[in-house]
Amino acid sequence: MCGITACAAPADENVVDTLLGGLRNLEYRGYDSSGVATPDSETVSVIKREGGIDELADTLDVVGPDGAVGIGHTRWSTHGAPTDANAHPHTDCDNRVAVVHNGIVENYTELRDELRARGHVFTSETDTEVIPHLVSEHLDDGMTVDGAFRAAIERLEGRFAIAMVVAGDDAIYAARNGSPLVVGVDDGRRFIASDVPSFLEHTDDVVYLEDGDVVRVTPDEHVITDLDGRPVERETKVVDWQPEDAERNGFDHYMLKEIHEQPAALERAINGRITAEGGIDLEEFPPGTFSDVTDVQLVACGTSYHAALYVRQQLAERGVPTQVFSGGEYATTPAPVTENTLVIAVTQSGETADTLASLRAADERGARTLAVTNVVGSSAARFCDDALFIRAGPEIGVAATKTFSSQVAVLTLLGERIAQDITGEPREDLAAMLRGLERLPSDVQHVLDQSSVESLATKYRERDGHFFIGRGVAYPVALEGALKFKEITYEHAEGFAAAELKHGPLALVTPDTPVFAVFSGPHDEKTLGNVEEVQSRGAPAVAIASEESTEVAEVVDEFLPIPDTHPVAAGVLANVQLQLVSYHVADLLGRAIDKPRNLAKSVTVE
Ligand code: F6R
Repeated sequence: MCGITACAAPADENVVDTLLGGLRNLEYRGYDSSGVATPDSETVSVIKREGGIDELADTLDVVGPDGAVGIGHTRWSTHGAPTDANAHPHTDCDNRVAVVHNGIVENYTELRDELRARGHVFTSETDTEVIPHLVSEHLDDGMTVDGAFRAAIERLEGRFAIAMVVAGDDAIYAARNGSPLVVGVDDGRRFIASDVPSFLEHTDDVVYLEDGDVVRVTPDEHVITDLDGRPVERETKVVDWQPEDAERNGFDHYMLKEIHEQPAALERAINGRITAEGGIDLEEFPPGTFSDVTDVQLVACGTSYHAALYVRQQLAERGVPTQVFSGGEYATTPAPVTENTLVIAVTQSGETADTLASLRAADERGARTLAVTNVVGSSAARFCDDALFIRAGPEIGVAATKTFSSQVAVLTLLGERIAQDITGEPREDLAAMLRGLERLPSDVQHVLDQSSVESLATKYRERDGHFFIGRGVAYPVALEGALKFKEITYEHAEGFAAAELKHGPLALVTPDTPVFAVFSGPHDEKTLGNVEEVQSRGAPAVAIASEESTEVAEVVDEFLPIPDTHPVAAGVLANVQLQLVSYHVADLLGRAIDKPRNLAKSVTVE
């Protein structure tokens, strides 16, 4: 969602360019407005603009603020339209305190009414603006900046990450409660951000703050305390992401770069996790770890939900009672659990509010929790009893691509570990499945090298609708194909279980609704029957299937081949073809591929 960046540098440095760079690195989190603030001895200078970071940069070029300490923000609106006034940072009446904030202040109406009654004038429609006004009141009461910051935080209900600068003070004050916040530790400089890529080009030494942490940052020091001011120790960790991981490296879009990073990401996902003897070695989870588990519940949102559906197939085949829930639904109506229920949160960012709320619900009811995530130090990783990392590297494009492939690979290994622990047996075709996984990096590379979806994209852009069907693991791939398509092309797309077509959706099928059919091996003949049903209604059929499926290739109008492999790997390969279809259609239509309208990378509100 929104992104926070902040930097405290030596007195002779100007941090404005650093803040701008930090914001550009976070632009994937929010991009409807942005701003920066630097304090001087009497007031804080705030420059903020509706629109992308370029609009802000243009204004900064003209206005030319400077300061050795500053905060910045890129916004994805929750309260109030994306306007200059609603952009962060927000200030108090005297322009003495400037605050940037992620999350939601749930009691802001009550606080604003109270502050208004005491004479405060508000200039935005945001919930954030109550914070600088509260701090300012406490400063007027004679409190220190530190004390005033804590006293203001104590009044806030909800989930937030906040960073603040105050006129006449050369420190940055920040606090975390439910929204991510990290400190970057450099030689003679300190950073604060909602996400590591913000400052990765400067330092890879990171301190992950915990809920309830308050930090005061100066160029040489970060002092972390709890809300009552008691010192708190947090380890400094070295992240193994490279700065170039967060750059475009010659690709037109991050999404295309990340699609092409899948072979390397998959290599990392499985590296060391498949033994030479054909077993599974999840260092964190030796054999027997899950012997007590009786049932599995997977909670996730969006693309991660589709990865969860994918592994459900494998667990179900192995006789493990498994359910998959959308995070938002589980948080509202948690499913019954016992202490032997394993609740697995699948979340790239580890910060999705709906998924975190589900985890809290599961934990309160006594279930065992496990996070499968990309982000070490994320809220999900820290909240859960255990965590397993997908090692995909930073994903900047809002549309999840490489992380889906890595989630599927890692969840497949985890699913098999769980099934073996519960049943005492490996799956019959374990060797073939592991071979399929091991071949995935080179098979994905083959798809990327051979794919020729551009002409297909030209033909099928801007139709009445685009339907995606599949069964078995091809069903979640169909859902994922449709999600990606609608997300970045803004064209209508829906995914269905192939067998469901005739129970309703077939009424929508016309010659102007291409149907993308995903084939993963088992039951292909049934899916082919469904293809013939749509073709007889005049719809063009595009198949994504093994290059050896001649009977499919003969029937359909367009054929996108994938290497012949195990079904569990086939779904991942088919998904790569669909990613490319969506990408090229969106590109032809001139869409904002990396930052599709109305969407944000990390959805930290419920
Ligand atoms: C779609 C997409 C979203 C996310 C969803 C969950 O391309 O990226 O649907 O998958 O918001 O995010 P995580 O996995 O971070 O919990």
